[in-house]
Amino acid sequence: MYLGLDLGTSSVKAMLIDDRQRVIGTASGALTVERPHPGWSEQDPASWIEATRSALGQLRRNHADALSAVRGIGLSGHMHGATAIDASGAVLRPCILWNDTRSHAEAAELDANPIFRALTGNIVFPGFTAPKLKWMQSHEPELFSRVATVLLPKDYLRLWLTGEKISEMSDAAGTSWLDTGRRAWNSDLLAATGLTMSQMPSLVEGTERAGALRREAAAELGLPAGIPVAGGAGDNAASACGMGTVADGHAFASLGTSGVLFAANGSYLPNPASAVHAFCHALPGTWHQMGVILSATDSLNWLSGVTGTDPSVLTGELGETLQAPGSVTFLPYLSGERTPHNDARIRGSFTGLGHESDRPALTRAVVEGVAFAFRDSLEALRQAGTTLERVTAIGGGSRSRYWLEVLATVLDLPVDIPADGDFGAAYGAARLGLIATENADPLAVCTQPETAGTILPDRDHAASFDAAYQRYRALYPAIKGATA
Ligand code: XUL
Repeated sequence: MYLGLDLGTSSVKAMLIDDRQRVIGTASGALTVERPHPGWSEQDPASWIEATRSALGQLRRNHADALSAVRGIGLSGHMHGATAIDASGAVLRPCILWNDTRSHAEAAELDANPIFRALTGNIVFPGFTAPKLKWMQSHEPELFSRVATVLLPKDYLRLWLTGEKISEMSDAAGTSWLDTGRRAWNSDLLAATGLTMSQMPSLVEGTERAGALRREAAAELGLPAGIPVAGGAGDNAASACGMGTVADGHAFASLGTSGVLFAANGSYLPNPASAVHAFCHALPGTWHQMGVILSATDSLNWLSGVTGTDPSVLTGELGETLQAPGSVTFLPYLSGERTPHNDARIRGSFTGLGHESDRPALTRAVVEGVAFAFRDSLEALRQAGTTLERVTAIGGGSRSRYWLEVLATVLDLPVDIPADGDFGAAYGAARLGLIATENADPLAVCTQPETAGTILPDRDHAASFDAAYQRYRALYPAIKGATA
């Protein structure tokens, strides 16, 4: 039995799998995001532990025996968050999350220093960890002076579980402090942020052991003490392990809070100019690229909040038959955008509204706008040398067949739907737990799920969606010009 723990933006999810990788049980503990100022996004790290306790409490009620038979744990979590702790291990301030854009000026300043793109292979995005520490240095100097260690969110959870300060390559690649090609922290990058190597956790590969469960935590959670905790992975690399997206050419499109077009690479292929992320994968000697959309299902959630209508009701109103795009266009830049614009200050928009624009018209525009953002990421991956033949759809938004039909047509790629099951980040984390505990072959464990069906691009609508995509492309510079 193995346990995967995925610290997501909206919940901590716990998943138990058996020796044959069958899911035995899942449970989750809810989390909230605080937005004290526009562009800010924070979480109290104590809430991650509370949510973990709550998820494990549910699992214990239904699967106590299975929990006591767990042999290893794997961790996954939302990436880039800055969890600053002092010498006693106390958290200095709420964690600044991946979709927080307050540090855009600091990000631009670091990005202008050529060593960052050269060594990390990425733009220094405002959501990444380094500019957040730079922001603390100028806005919270007293707190900054007390920073003993900076941990990524799932690694803070590891500290609570094991007492160890350890990170792994896939998440570390999203900090702007990792030499991504060499898979090692870089002291020049840290120095440019006012930090030193001593403030970094040690590094392992995602498939390696990274601490053992503390006796107190074990007793509280109903797990055996001393079992290994794997390095694990950032949530996207963990999902890739769950989906078997580990070999060159495999790709998935994740319609989650953020949208991610993820491609596994057998070698390190950076191309920061196209705003593609090039990160280490969770498996040794592998890397991946991804385009990141900051508000994917979050855009639909926003519309749901505004209209007071559940997201599934909104997409349900669209039916299942693809329609040509309407006159309304939505730019999904509710928290700015990463790929392809790297623009923290841009905001979303609806254009082309008419008296006839009812709720379904707005939902269609949101669904289409997010699909167009995926097309932008596809073009960016192409510029970075990656050709995709097909993608597998995952994430909450992939439950909408209409959304997937739009996506297949806009990307002009077949979209595979995995057979029933949950192959997301918690599953990938559990797999990494299994690999680290049993010293198993990662490729033998990280296999691909069966495909339940494939949605093909709709040729009849190809031209109209292409024209709508061109309108969408033209809107970004226009809106930017009108709001800057
Ligand atoms: C990736 C990213 C998000 C978060 C949250 O770069 O910022 O996908 O990991 O899921």
